This record gives sequence, structure tokens and C-alpha cells, in this order.
Amino acid sequence: MALTYQQTKLVRDTIPALREHGERITSIFYKNMLRGHPELHNYFNSVNQKNGRQPRALTSVILGFASNINNISELIPKFERMCNKHCSLGIKPEHYGIVGEYLLAAFGEVLGPAMTPPVLEAWTKAYWLLAKMLIGREAQLYKEFSIEGWPAWRKFKIDRVVPESEDIHSFYLVPQDRRSLPHYLPGQYVSVRIQGPDGFLQSRQYSLSDSYKAGYYRISIKRDEGARHSNSVSQSYFNPGVVSNMLFDRFPAGSAVEVSHPAGEFFLDTHNNSMVPLVLISAGVGVTPMVAIANTVVETQPERAISWIHGSRNAVPFEDHVAHLRRNNPNFHTKIFKTHLANTDLAGVTYDYDFRMDLGRVAPEDLHLDHGGTEYCLLLNKDPPLTCISNICGPEQFMLEMSDYLKAQGVQAPRLKFELFSTGDLAFKA
Ligand SMILES: Cc1cc2nc3c(=O)[nH]c(=O)nc-3n(C[C@H](O)[C@H](O)[C@H](O)COP(=O)(O)OP(=O)(O)OC[C@H]3O[C@@H](n4cnc5c(N)ncnc54)[C@H](O)[C@@H]3O)c2cc1C
Ligand code: HEM
Repeated sequence: MALTYQQTKLVRDTIPALREHGERITSIFYKNMLRGHPELHNYFNSVNQKNGRQPRALTSVILGFASNINNISELIPKFERMCNKHCSLGIKPEHYGIVGEYLLAAFGEVLGPAMTPPVLEAWTKAYWLLAKMLIGREAQLYKEFSIEGWPAWRKFKIDRVVPESEDIHSFYLVPQDRRSLPHYLPGQYVSVRIQGPDGFLQSRQYSLSDSYKAGYYRISIKRDEGARHSNSVSQSYFNPGVVSNMLFDRFPAGSAVEVSHPAGEFFLDTHNNSMVPLVLISAGVGVTPMVAIANTVVETQPERAISWIHGSRNAVPFEDHVAHLRRNNPNFHTKIFKTHLANTDLAGVTYDYDFRMDLGRVAPEDLHLDHGGTEYCLLLNKDPPLTCISNICGPEQFMLEMSDYLKAQGVQAPRLKFELFSTGDLAFKA
């Protein structure tokens, strides 16, 4: 049932206090929920709870929703990212009751006596209004997955592992049931689930890194060695990533993993046959969905203009493949920024720039700024080598700076698509 005018006011009045105490909410909520329901450890990324990223994302979306409660229909597109992520992880309607109970209790602890029965009633309604919107959209996505006979986790075998660079390997995944795999849109990801070191299941998302093939899916994974920079926020950033290292070290060809149906709202819409220029902007391992997009376009729309602007600190993954695409497709252009060029690297030949990625250095014609319809796909991974690796400048910030640059050149927001290789609350930022 909709909130009354008085109830929307009660909700809005508490938002500043809840925002101010975001960290406390986050820690109370997750600690209590996982203590009460330890089985939920199987769904959550244990590191994103420790670093508070996921609970912060959830709380911030709920507060963002509540602030915009008078025009919720405009918010619906902003929920695509989380609904796709939820479905990729197997989140079910019954989970919403648990989250709602512990989240509202955490709000109550933070607000103290200000959480009067009318305020609690108003917040409960607001939560369920949002939850029902998400559950509804997730039901549609699950229905699509079921039509393709893949409603939940499916067993795959790692058929081959192929190095693409020193620390990025491609894993070729073949379904154990050998049934043909459904189409996906280039840019989408799958979740891969394995048993983590603490005995709980751990899932991570990996973009599909090739154009569609019926017999296998390819994902390309970077070994996450942890931060190597002394100015990182906390010592724990030095911990090597759990799942990527396990996949590299303990999952050779022949091993089994569980995989969920392709999902994700960051994709090239291949159904509309658009011929507008495409500008792909990526950094580090963010190359993976761009390879899928570029391969698909080159195979199906060879006349379409594509510029690929990529930044890398180490070797550029898929370098030979990208060079091959460039040589054989006059409509495919690349601009590669590489920092820390070694003596053996050839600036101006192999790489275009020895700088951190800076769109201001790219020629306007390579950014296709004069074409009113150009689509821009931006992806930065969690640890972009091209931005300041400091406490305040994360990948979201860097992405926003790039989108600001493009907007300042006259590109309208709907033509920009973002992906982030991490959990975040982009919904109310981008
Ligand atoms: C849509 C999407 C697509 C993706 N596609 C790809 C892809 O194609 N290829 C790819 O390689 N990756 C991709 N990723 C990222 C991938 O899902 C994983 O996040 C990545 O592999 C790291 O997982 P991990 O388990 O190895 O690291 P985690 O264990 O999750 O650790 C992540 C980082 O957190 C740090 N850390 C550890 N403990 C703490 C702590 N207590 N506090 C703070 N920091 C800590 C670690 O040092 C590490 O650097 C994608 C992510 C998303 C969301
Ligand atoms: C109204 C309720 C909810 C909101 C607003 C919400 C919001 C979010 C957001 C913003 C993200 C991050 C998306 C991204 O950037 O990738 C997320 C991820 C996630 N959510 Fe929810 N969520 C809700 C309910 C639930 C429920 C009921 C569960 C199940 C118990 C759940 C489990 C997860 C998990 C496991 C992730 C991925 C976490 C990670 O990878 O670290 N969420 N959610």
C-alpha cells in the first residue's frame, strides 16, 4: 500500500540522521543478520562485508529511494543493476523479509527514541514498496532464465585455461549437461560459485569475454594479488583476492564450477542493429566485456565504427587479438594508454600514449564527438591503474570524471553506459 503524505514526511525527516550514521547501520545490520541467518554467508561476498562496500551500497540505495519516494516510477531503470546482480546470485523473495527485519532494526538502533511506532510503520511501508518493485523485476528475469532451462546454478567443467597475459587467464566453461548454451548480450556476465576457504560458498561475477558460442562460455580472470601500494587505505587491501586466486591455483582444466545464467544491464543491444559509432573505454582487466562487444560487432556489423580506448599499467591483455582486429577492420580504431613504459615498449608504435588515461588527449574524431548518436561504454575495474590510487579516488570517482568530460563535450547522459567490476551504489550517482 502506498505511503500517506504524512508517512513520506516521517521517512524523509529521518534520512539525514540515517545518512550520517551509515557506517553504524551497516555494521549493526550485517553482523546481526548473518548471526541470525548464517546460511546467508553463502550469498554474500565475505570481503565486501568486511570492507563495508555491499552493506553501504544497500543502505545508500534505500535512503536514495526514500528521498525520491514521490517520483518512484523514474527510479525503476536505476534498479536494473541490482536486480540483475540479485538474480545472478539466486536471491529469492523470501530473503527480502529477512533483510527488511534486520535493516529496520538497525535503523531503529541508530535513530533510538526517534524511531516511534509511526516512523517504524512508515519505514516498513517504504522498505516493502521498494522490495516489491525489486521482487517483481527479479521474477521477470528468473522467468526468462527458466524459459531457457537454466533457473538456478548449473554445473560446468573448465575445459581449457589459456593465459592472455601474465596475470589474466581465460577459462573456457563447458556445461556438464552438454546442452546448447543460451545467447547473451555482449557485455553481460555470469557468476561463478565455488566453496570458499571458510566452508561457505563464494560467488564472483565474470564478464563473458567473447562473442556468443553455443558450446562454451569464455571468461577471463585477473589474479587479484591485493594492493601493492603503501598509500592504500588499510592493511587488508594487501590480502590477495579469495576466489580469483583459488581459480588460478586450484581449478585447472577438468575442474567443476557452478555458473549462473548470464545477466547484467551493461551490454550492447545487438537486437536493434544500430550503426551509430561505438566508443569503448576500459582499463586493466576491464578489457573483458569490451572484447566480447568488439568481437560481436566485427563479426556481425563490420561496417560499424568502433574506437577502443584502453589504459593499462602492465601488458595489455588480448593485445595480439586486438592488433589483429585493428589490422583487419578499417572501422576499428584503438588508442592505448600505457603507464610505466619499459625501455622495450614502443611508445607511438605499440602504444599510443605514455600517460594515464586522459580523454582530453584523444582526438575528437576518435571519440566520435561530432556524431549525435555515438554510444559510449565505460568500464573501470576496482583498482584502475590510471587513476590516483589513494583513499579518496576510487573507480566510481574516475568513471564519473570521464563521464563529466564526455558530457562537457555535449554527450547526453543516456548515451553513456557504465560497468563497475565491484559492488556499488551507482544507481543514484551515474
Ligand atoms: C559485473 C562484474 C563483472 C566482472 N568481470 C570480471 C572479469 O571479467 N574479470 C575479472 O578478473 N574480474 C571481474 N570482476 C571482478 C570479480 O568479480 C572479482 O571481484 C575479482 O575476481 C576479485 O575477486 P577475489 O575473490 O579474487 O577477491 P576478493 O576476495 O573479493 O577481494 C577483493 C579485493 O579486496 C581486498 N581485500 C581483501 N580483504 C579486505 C578487507 N578486509 N578490506 C578491504 N579490502 C580487502 C583484496 O586485497 C582484493 O584486492 C567483475 C565484477 C563484476 C561486478
Ligand atoms: C530492498 C532491498 C535490497 C536492496 C535495496 C539491495 C541493494 C543492493 C545493492 C545496491 C547491491 C549492489 C549491486 C551492485 O552494485 O552490484 C546489492 C547486492 C547484493 N545484494 Fe541486495 N539489496 C536488497 C535486498 C537483498 C536481499 C533480500 C538479499 C539476500 C539476502 C540481497 C543480497 C545481495 C547480495 C548477495 C549482493 C551482492 C553482494 C556482493 O557482491 O558483495 N540483497 N544489493
